[in-house]
Amino acid sequence: MSVKPPRKFFEPLAIGAPAPYRELPVRLERMIHFFPPHNEKMRAKAAEIGKTVDVLLGNLEDAIPADAKEAARAGFVEVAKAWDNPGTGLWTRVNCLNSPWFLDDMNAIVGEAGDKVDVVMLPKVEGPWDIHYLDQLLAQLEAKHGVKRPIMIHAILETALGVENVAAICQASPRMHGISLGPADLAASRGMKTTRVGGGHPFYGVLEDAAEGKAGRTLFQQDLWHYTVAKMVDACQSAGIKAFYGPFGDFSDDAACEAQFRNAFLLGCVGGWSLHPKQIDIAKKVFSPDVAEVLFAKKILDAMPDGTGAVMIDGKMQDDATWKQAKVMVDLARAVAA
Ligand code: GLV
Ligand code: MG
Repeated sequence: MSVKPPRKFFEPLAIGAPAPYRELPVRLERMIHFFPPHNEKMRAKAAEIGKTVDVLLGNLEDAIPADAKEAARAGFVEVAKAWDNPGTGLWTRVNCLNSPWFLDDMNAIVGEAGDKVDVVMLPKVEGPWDIHYLDQLLAQLEAKHGVKRPIMIHAILETALGVENVAAICQASPRMHGISLGPADLAASRGMKTTRVGGGHPFYGVLEDAAEGKAGRTLFQQDLWHYTVAKMVDACQSAGIKAFYGPFGDFSDDAACEAQFRNAFLLGCVGGWSLHPKQIDIAKKVFSPDVAEVLFAKKILDAMPDGTGAVMIDGKMQDDATWKQAKVMVDLARAVAA
């Protein structure tokens, strides 16, 4: 499918030239840590937690009860107004476009805290038209309230139609920051037979071949999200924006959370969501490159100073293409160390 280049809604942003030549922002965003802003205790902890995460997000959408929507919105504005932590991104997830709360969310966030908020996460995005609408609304509200820095948009990929249109969504506006997989809503939208927030399923697998005389056969579990994550990463990278794995809801299974995050990292994602404080460290570990891998990548860069040719390192052939892979790892390691 060919995708039209993004329409220019305003002068180019400081982040640079249009996709796909735009440099990705170097800011680390290994975890987007969610908090429920209607909860007073959580609000009180927000500034402190903000020092331990790459991104703090005030959630206004799913998981916030309908009768707490206004309190959550007001609570997030309160946290944003007091926010004094420029090293950490401050985001919010607003309610979806056709909900009764979306417009009030946007008016309050941009009107009362527009200069403090970096990114608005928009759920249930189905096509570029959703991004065009939010882009124009942000432009109106920023102009009205004299917001000096454009607020970026992060879309959640969580409907079957959204997956169909993911490339066009990524390229819909220069405000696009990135995309997160929303496996829970996507499972429902696709009619998948699961009741989980992300992760695998014990019955989704491949059975080993039947062998003569062998009693049991092993089912090798597969990654339910492989296709979607790979499709999302291609769409994001083609547009010069970032891809993220989303939530992992089973807080009792840290190993599975780590494995799911790692698959996403290896496929090209830069971060995931943390919904529980213990997932902060899991994300930090997984979305920072492994030391041994970085040392090996460094050997490749050192052996090919101009990035061309072919060399053998530890019995493995390296060339211009592995040099580029090595550079991704070493650049990320430098960003983590900085
Ligand atoms: C996240 O919003 C999801 O639906 O998984
Ligand atoms: Mg969702």
